[in-house]
Amino acid sequence: MIRKGIILAGGRGLRMSPLTLSVNKQLLPLYDKPLIFYPLSVLMSIGIKRILIIVNKGQLKQFRKILPEKNNLGISIKYKEQAKPGGLPQAFTIGKKFIGNDSVSLILGDNFFYGKNLSKILRKNINLDSGVKIFIHPVKKPSLYGIATIDKNKKVINLVEKPKKTNSKFAVTGLYFFDNQVINLTKKLKPSKRGELEIIDLLKFYKKLNKLKAEFIGNGSLWLDTGDIKSFYRASNFVSNIESKKGLKIGCIEEVAFKNKWINKKQMKNAINFYGKCNYSKYLQSLIV
Ligand code: G1P
Repeated sequence: MIRKGIILAGGRGLRMSPLTLSVNKQLLPLYDKPLIFYPLSVLMSIGIKRILIIVNKGQLKQFRKILPEKNNLGISIKYKEQAKPGGLPQAFTIGKKFIGNDSVSLILGDNFFYGKNLSKILRKNINLDSGVKIFIHPVKKPSLYGIATIDKNKKVINLVEKPKKTNSKFAVTGLYFFDNQVINLTKKLKPSKRGELEIIDLLKFYKKLNKLKAEFIGNGSLWLDTGDIKSFYRASNFVSNIESKKGLKIGCIEEVAFKNKWINKKQMKNAINFYGKCNYSKYLQSLIV
């Protein structure tokens, strides 16, 4: 059973410079909330209460202002700094102590997921005791992502990072469920040509051991990697459209906590005071009347 989650919110965000020269990408507004609220809400929606957020060196203060360790969410948030961005699997060396002897989920801080049945699908896979579970979704431009080729039985036959040519359209999304072996397997990784440890190489170790499984996030689900300006604004527009059409909020972390019964009305009021007079607070207020 996965009870811990790491959000990787480091990285240089080079593709979004100059926006990201002084501000971490995950703190930029995706419509009406900082980007990091969305991956955090995904982890919370599947019952994960123990969170480690990995940030760039020198950015702890900024993050703690928005998501303090003493939060109104009924969850435990811890932080670690990444001295130098060296690839996604660094999450498991930096997070070694946090992970301890448990299995762990990793979500990339710039990945946006949305879907009515998404948390149901994810929850079905949370009882992982051995191996790794990846979540795949079809994309138009496979050359931008880690790509999995699968057979009829969802067995992963091949994995390639950003292939120039491929017959598969299934991207490996930035959400992974790992068993505890991940700490040791990460130690065996060697930097790729671009000088970084690659998550795809780590997944390949699991594949060799016959311990890699793939699951679709579902036709009704949406996944967007918000790594560049265009996709960032696409996701932002999507949130704006859905929120105004449906009168609800996506990625509202207090709402998830309240629905999970991790916080009560009093804590919700504390959250409202924390944010001050704003539309977000108005929405929180509407949840407790
Ligand atoms: C990373 C991974 C890639 C994955 C993607 C999902 O790519 O290396 O396998 O498909 O995240 O967002 P990056 O965004 O670092 O280029």
